[in-house]
Amino acid sequence: MSDISNRKPETGAFFARDRAWHPPAYAPGYKTSVLRSPQRALLSLDSTISEITGPVFGHSMIGELDNDLIHNFARPGESAIGERIIVHGRVLDERGRPVSGALVEFWQANAGGRYRHKKETYLAAIDPNFGGCGRCITDEYGQYSFRTIRPGAYPWPNGVNDWRPAHIHFSIFGHGFAQRLITQMYFDGDPMIWKCPIVGTIPDKAAIEQLIAPLDWGNTIPMDARAYKFDIVLRGRRSILFENRLEGN
Ligand SMILES: [Fe+2]
Repeated sequence: MSDISNRKPETGAFFARDRAWHPPAYAPGYKTSVLRSPQRALLSLDSTISEITGPVFGHSMIGELDNDLIHNFARPGESAIGERIIVHGRVLDERGRPVSGALVEFWQANAGGRYRHKKETYLAAIDPNFGGCGRCITDEYGQYSFRTIRPGAYPWPNGVNDWRPAHIHFSIFGHGFAQRLITQMYFDGDPMIWKCPIVGTIPDKAAIEQLIAPLDWGNTIPMDARAYKFDIVLRGRRSILFENRLEGN
């Protein structure tokens, strides 16, 4: 494998974020968005060099079990309780190019829907063998993969009876801070998705469907784990438009 950490960094400006595709900052159905959303109209500023560049990550910073949530917090010889799954996909930019060397971090509740966090109050049990977070780096084709257990749904204080569908949180660092994406993945066929007030802030049904990972039967490991495929698209760079120009021309 080529050494991704030595790639030449790209420095061109990024496309503007499509604010009609992403959910609005102010969404009254999602109560905590009301106080933390901007009160005034947004201003558009050119990207600075600190936004169009970013840290470069290498495989050397990743531990052996960082992409295995079934085992990375488990006692030796034990494993997390739950339905064993593989989550994998590609990180691409808006021009369809793979984003190599991206840091993909993920965190989730356990199989009962409980997070291992001191402020977590849900009555579902803690799994002593499950921490609920991990990370990996995309390869030269933009591919990532990790093993985990399917998280449970959990209730949260918003309306009288609101629940989050089973989901995995993602943070992706691409090739510039302006490209950073934080999102959530949902599971194919889960009826809870369409009852969730947070999902409901997304204006376009097609955008919601992009967050739902289909069951990937072809990558299931018999007698072990089912697979879900989740591709992620980061902002593209304007400079890529000119990339087919030969150097020196
Ligand atoms: Fe969550």
